[in-house]
Amino acid sequence: MEMMKAIAVRKSTRNYKSEQISDDSLNIVLNAGCAAPVGMGAYDSVHLTVIQNSSLLDKITKATANAFGSPNMKPFYGAPTLIVVSGKANDKAPHVEIANAACVIENMALAATDIGLGSVYLWAFLASFSKEKELLKELNLPEGFVPVSGIALGYPTEPLTKEKELKQTIKINTIK
Ligand SMILES: Cc1cc2nc3c(=O)[nH]c(=O)nc-3n(C[C@H](O)[C@H](O)[C@H](O)COP(=O)(O)O)c2cc1C
Repeated sequence: MEMMKAIAVRKSTRNYKSEQISDDSLNIVLNAGCAAPVGMGAYDSVHLTVIQNSSLLDKITKATANAFGSPNMKPFYGAPTLIVVSGKANDKAPHVEIANAACVIENMALAATDIGLGSVYLWAFLASFSKEKELLKELNLPEGFVPVSGIALGYPTEPLTKEKELKQTIKINTIK
């Protein structure tokens, strides 16, 4: 798919088939994520955790629902794969780990769109780790890393075909 078309077709998918994505598709998405720009080129300050274990996905789902007081909340919308992006904070560049995660996730979302997968940027599920500290240990993160964002991946129930019009919807001021 041409890049501008992928940008126009990408949207947050909130309905997924239960079928797992192939390892080939997963690797395409992960490779795209790893090609993203990262502050100061510090790729070792970013960590990706692929979760395809339904029992762990269920635990995070329940803890998120609990944190929000919404028992029926489905933070992953039934997607069979969750990629958690974790980062290491850097005192010299406050919040850079969040910016890094955003770049990695958008690259993954566009790659997913390109190969016909649905995706959605995820933030709400992070509340699960604040609510249940033990859950964080199940991510097996290296020392010093904390989850900062995530992306759900799966086959959308409806294929992504509609191209949004690319126009300037965000307010812009230009200084010439
Ligand atoms: C930083 C960030 C956090 C987000 N967190 C969530 C989330 O937790 N759950 C969710 O369903 N969508 C989440 N989204 C998706 C946005 O709601 C969505 O991208 C936006 O409404 C635009 O819609 P589109 O992605 O279909 O173009 C998040 C997006 C961003 C950039």
